[in-house]
Amino acid sequence: MRIDVVFAPQSVAPADVAGRTVVVVDVLRATTCIAVALANGAKAVLPAASSDEALRIAQNLERDAVVLAGERKSLRIPGFAMGNSPGEFTAEAVAGKTLVMTTSNGTQALIAAQGAREVLAGAAVNFGAVAARARAALADHGQVLVLCGGGDGEFALEDAFAAGRIAKALLPEGGLKAVEVNDAAVASLELARRYGERWARALKASSHGRELAALGLQADLEACATQDSHPVLPVYADRRITAYRAPGEG
Ligand code: MLT
Repeated sequence: MRIDVVFAPQSVAPADVAGRTVVVVDVLRATTCIAVALANGAKAVLPAASSDEALRIAQNLERDAVVLAGERKSLRIPGFAMGNSPGEFTAEAVAGKTLVMTTSNGTQALIAAQGAREVLAGAAVNFGAVAARARAALADHGQVLVLCGGGDGEFALEDAFAAGRIAKALLPEGGLKAVEVNDAAVASLELARRYGERWARALKASSHGRELAALGLQADLEACATQDSHPVLPVYADRRITAYRAPGEG
């Protein structure tokens, strides 16, 4: 059994994700917004690498059914209907819609994970659902990779903490002795030990959290720190993220 953590999408190659279940985390704020949007009835979220690519994808979809969302430098992209604040992704705004989304790091991490056996989008808001699925995957094929959105190729505290929370939830009974892990997983587990369940503390301590607070986006921090508020399982396959529904769920 093997659990690895990678701190930024720039550090993974296609060979690193092949054959594995990959959990992408960008707690502030892309994977949080994706979970909130799907929980509120969005049909799908289509990650795009750039705003030009998002526009191209949107042009091929029915105009009334598509919403452009995303940020650069934490602010809504000019001309896009929505930014990257969880509070924007209400049922009124997204139910039945296909969202085309591009963000600085989170959507880049999702795109980097394409080609994995399975790609999940995880955050605090859907922590339990994602941890349960990843645990089942680890038992099934013995390989889980947690890929952090990070910050422009660098380590981001909030994502490493989230990765540690997920890794901790996956540890078998024998703990670290019963599983192979890389050093990033060990460091992430240390962060999980330090902050425990206090997501808000970890998020506020991070440089991105402080940047969002300075922009007056404290409400985003609170929403992103609320564990299991949106218990949905976002699965990324064939370039679309959709909410997993068990057979028979409709
Ligand atoms: C990202 O993808 O880097 C984030 O979602 C940035 C943000 O907080 O908007």
